[in-house]
Amino acid sequence: MAVDLEKILRPIDHLMSPFPPKYMTIASGDDMVIRQVNRDDIPDILLYIEPLIHVERDFYNIVAARVYSELLAYYMHRVQDEYVLVAQIDGELAAVVNGRMVNKEVGISLHTIALRRGLRIGAHAFAAKMEYHVDILKQKEVLIVAESPIGFRRWMIEYNLEKRFDIPHELGGVPSWALTKELFDKARDSLVVGRRPVPEHLLEKAKAGILPPSDPPVPPEDLLAATRSMYDTTGTSLIDVRNKLGGR
Ligand SMILES: CC(C)(COP(=O)(O)OP(=O)(O)OC[C@H]1O[C@@H](n2cnc3c(N)ncnc32)[C@H](O)[C@@H]1OP(=O)(O)O)[C@@H](O)C(=O)NCCC(=O)NCCS
Repeated sequence: MAVDLEKILRPIDHLMSPFPPKYMTIASGDDMVIRQVNRDDIPDILLYIEPLIHVERDFYNIVAARVYSELLAYYMHRVQDEYVLVAQIDGELAAVVNGRMVNKEVGISLHTIALRRGLRIGAHAFAAKMEYHVDILKQKEVLIVAESPIGFRRWMIEYNLEKRFDIPHELGGVPSWALTKELFDKARDSLVVGRRPVPEHLLEKAKAGILPPSDPPVPPEDLLAATRSMYDTTGTSLIDVRNKLGGR
């Protein structure tokens, strides 16, 4: 009985061509590998996403909470046609991106989260997932939203995305933006980097294990910074936290 019900609850994924791994030298001089991961890898990734749920700065909290749930849904077979790509430097987890196929022609960009800052790692990982939708899955367009101002700058502005405001996005039903193949072609020379094949020693290192990020975003020591990041100029959140700490 339980087995039969699982058959109903578990969606059957469509066949999706795999993302061919690529690598690039980032601004720090390190080589970064971007590759697709399987369900078996998900628990190792969740370990490093969970702490980000508590980082309010730059909207890491909501993005991490959603990424956590999307990755868990993928692991537990509770989402259809999802894929997950990771960026790794020397094995360390540097970024996670994920998305879905709505149908053959339309893709959904779910999330991009960078675990090392200031090197455009998130931007490179996002470009790889657009490449996956357009070049590998051969889709006509990808529906995208931004949950943070940095995300808006990176996707809507840098790619000059088109509005698809009549289409509610899967992320909270907010109006969608779209990356078309034409827009992606225009961005190829400036925003999409990377080489293939990945040298064997780099790929082997990446596949050997997803290592913890060495410098991930963390909650601020100064709680006032958290209130600033939430545009809370009155400091109400800080007062709330102090009251809690003080047992009031
Ligand atoms: C959006 C995101 C993926 C972009 O990643 P990225 O391309 O690697 O860019 P960074 O976040 O490192 O840097 C963004 C800006 O902050 C600056 N910055 C650099 N170091 C920083 C640091 N330690 N802390 C904060 N900002 C930093 C960068 O200089 C950069 O400025 P620029 O846009 O003028 O280049 C990443 O900011 C992130 O994961 N944010 C939280 C989740 C999120 O918002 N995801 C997108 C949802 S739409």
